[in-house]
Amino acid sequence: MKIELDFSSEHFDKADLKVVACYEKEGKEKDKTFQGSWSNKDLMSHFKGLRSSNSFSGSSGEFLTFTGPEGETVLAVGLGNKKDAKAEQLRKTIAKTYHAVAGKKFKTVAIDALSFNCVNDKAKVAELICESLQLSAYRFDKYLASKKTPAFKKICLFVDDKKSKKSVEKAVEKALNVTESVNFARDLVNEAPNVLHSEGYAKTIEADVKKNLKGVKVKTLGKAELKKEKMNLFLSVNAGSAYGPRLVHLTYTPKKATKNTKHIAMVGKGLTFDTGGYSLKPGGAMMGMKFDMAGSATVYGAFRAAVLNNSPYKITCILGMTDNAVSSTATMPDSIVKARNGLNVEILNTDAEGRLVLADCLDYACDQKPDYLIDAATLTGACLVALGSQVCAVLGNDDKWINQLRTHAKKQDEYMWQLPIIPEWRDDMKSQIADLKNIGTAGRAGTATAAAFLENFIKNDVKWAHLDIAGVGDSQAHLPYCPSKGASGLIVRTLHDALTNGK
Ligand code: BES
Ligand code: ZN
Ligand code: ZN
Repeated sequence: MKIELDFSSEHFDKADLKVVACYEKEGKEKDKTFQGSWSNKDLMSHFKGLRSSNSFSGSSGEFLTFTGPEGETVLAVGLGNKKDAKAEQLRKTIAKTYHAVAGKKFKTVAIDALSFNCVNDKAKVAELICESLQLSAYRFDKYLASKKTPAFKKICLFVDDKKSKKSVEKAVEKALNVTESVNFARDLVNEAPNVLHSEGYAKTIEADVKKNLKGVKVKTLGKAELKKEKMNLFLSVNAGSAYGPRLVHLTYTPKKATKNTKHIAMVGKGLTFDTGGYSLKPGGAMMGMKFDMAGSATVYGAFRAAVLNNSPYKITCILGMTDNAVSSTATMPDSIVKARNGLNVEILNTDAEGRLVLADCLDYACDQKPDYLIDAATLTGACLVALGSQVCAVLGNDDKWINQLRTHAKKQDEYMWQLPIIPEWRDDMKSQIADLKNIGTAGRAGTATAAAFLENFIKNDVKWAHLDIAGVGDSQAHLPYCPSKGASGLIVRTLHDALTNGK
């Protein structure tokens, strides 16, 4: 779907469907009055004169369809109480509006953007509307013979203020770079594991970089290179796979980089499927494990958006790709494997595989000498127990960096909460016969013990934050701009913000 910006009323006037917003009416029951400002004043007074407008309160998510003075269809949308209506409310209202309209037969749809300006910023409101429309219009329908495509090919966004043209266009362009990247990440996560295996995944990323990210350097490591790098933990996860492991290493350097340019590195868990290995998952728990590469898709989505939006920082992005399969060559529980950093790890449970891939990738990432490091992973089922499916967990070795990320999350209206790493949980990850073991006490602080394990692979004083996206990675049915099932694309916006607007 395309979004067309219109700074004169030309397209809005001709649209089959006009969309306008009202706040909730204020005042005592008897003299409750219309709250809002529409660009077309004739349309507004026509609406106020309608009997049906009396029964429309403007509460959040309320819709009223009426016929305009020219016989056109107009949809009035309730934005809720003026004081409460903020960015996230706007995203949700626009998403609900999109879904209400997408099933109808309108060929041309236009939105009076400024009537939705609850954030009191013309560029911001246009940005938020575009963001929500593109996130809401996303469908993973490539395997469906009959696709539910809306009758309209584009939506016109009418911004009744020619003076703000430049700032609005700039904000919208940036927002579309982000949503395109969120949707790219969603496609990767939704793709079937027989199609998106490690080898195909690496090729898909390489092709996207070549096509869309000019100047980004790509280095892909296969089995032989990983052996040379002594990444035995990573290789142990791949040992049962029919496909080769891939480590995709991307580097972006801004044009004006100096030796003082901040360097941020990201690492993503890219398990294209997690059977659990010999510690096999039961069928019900295995279903959906194609999404176990969502961490890598998230960091790639953020990297992509940050590059398209000309981030001022140097960014390294490392994606660790393999599946976790069962075969005669798969790693057996009780195996002891030497990590890239020299520590010996007793692998007691082959289903705790993500931390093994991340461990070697984090050590490799630290060698790139970043100032800051982030990893993202669908790492633990325990994260869902601790924080539900709505909140992303953050843990790490630097509270300032963690708080900075939490601030970016808050700004983007994404939930992120810190869990601690305590000495007792570090001890819990120590093995009696090797330096570390890959599981802690069953049923106890699983998200944090996993992070305590990862901490052993951070070196060179790098400030590190680990994001467990096991909960937020998919099925965000409570968010109308996310598909109710499948990849959510959440956290891409937060990370993009950190990669472009950090300090
Ligand atoms: N990919 C899973 C984590 C996961 C589970 C994400 C369910 C989303 C939903 C991970 O590899 C895993 O299996 N972790 C184990 C760790 C345990 C064996 C210590 C888990 O969470 O059960
Ligand atoms: Zn697992
Ligand atoms: Zn996993």
